[in-house]
Amino acid sequence: MAKRFENKHVLITGAARGIGFEIACQFAKEGAVLSLLDFSEALLEEAVAQLQLLTSVVHSYHVDISVRADVDLAVLTAENRQPIDVLINNAGIAFETPFLQIEEQEWKKILDVNLTGMFYVSQSVCRHMAIRKKGVVVNMSSKNGLDGEFGYAHYNASKAGVIMLTKTMALELAHLNIRVNAVCPGYIQTPLSETIDSKAFVDNFVKSYIPMNRVGKPNEIAPLFLFLSSEESSFMTGQILIADGGQLAGQKPGQSLIENI
Ligand SMILES: NC(=O)c1ccc[n+]([C@@H]2O[C@H](COP(=O)([O-])OP(=O)(O)OC[C@H]3O[C@@H](n4cnc5c(N)ncnc54)[C@H](O)[C@@H]3O)[C@@H](O)[C@H]2O)c1
Repeated sequence: MAKRFENKHVLITGAARGIGFEIACQFAKEGAVLSLLDFSEALLEEAVAQLQLLTSVVHSYHVDISVRADVDLAVLTAENRQPIDVLINNAGIAFETPFLQIEEQEWKKILDVNLTGMFYVSQSVCRHMAIRKKGVVVNMSSKNGLDGEFGYAHYNASKAGVIMLTKTMALELAHLNIRVNAVCPGYIQTPLSETIDSKAFVDNFVKSYIPMNRVGKPNEIAPLFLFLSSEESSFMTGQILIADGGQLAGQKPGQSLIENI
């Protein structure tokens, strides 16, 4: 069977671990040429070694996406190797701090990576796509971009910003044949979530808020990025796909006022 992304050049940010790495694995299995951008050189090396077992061409760029000059240089180098067909804006960070205690530096750090960094990478790549009048972008937002959560004012604000960035890019770039969509995962078990939350917290969170009674896995999120990057979604732009185990559907049955459900 033909592979869906055979020889397509896919650039993925934050691809060295977690959901970004799983997205890279799934594109690799579909024959993509990969460019991985990540902040961590050590993790990148490991990721490249594993991905080379799945696909023939994997390039890596050790880049902090919140540094514009480094982003532009990496994107230009990647473009010169092969025009970029698909951009996956996945890189992101999170800290848990109550609103009244957030220091200016921490606020700026989250916004710089999650929103401004995404803007830098998107503008840099889309300027090349615009010349070719062809391209696809998929942005990583979050369930927290649509609904508040205690302790994450800066993260929630950054992910809500990603949704509006996605919609506005979709509007402005549609005539250039560039589609832009976003994915909003709920709670996904990754190194990021494991560094923030204890097992007891996660168990209680699941019990209280997630109708499917479990957290998600990266391999349940990555396929949405491939779908939105593929011809299967050719008439979709400016859309937000949510995968959260039912969290945003409403109250959990356990919280229902109707008895015996
Ligand atoms: N895990 C969840 O529950 C969850 C839920 C919704 C959305 N998300 C979003 O999914 C994305 C990936 O999350 P994850 O849980 O896989 O995290 P993770 O920490 O496991 O992986 C994030 C990757 O991004 C890289 N990165 C961080 N800052 C960077 C920067 N400035 N420049 C370049 N690379 C950088 C890290 O080195 C790492 O490889 C994030 O945008 C996150 O906000 C995660």
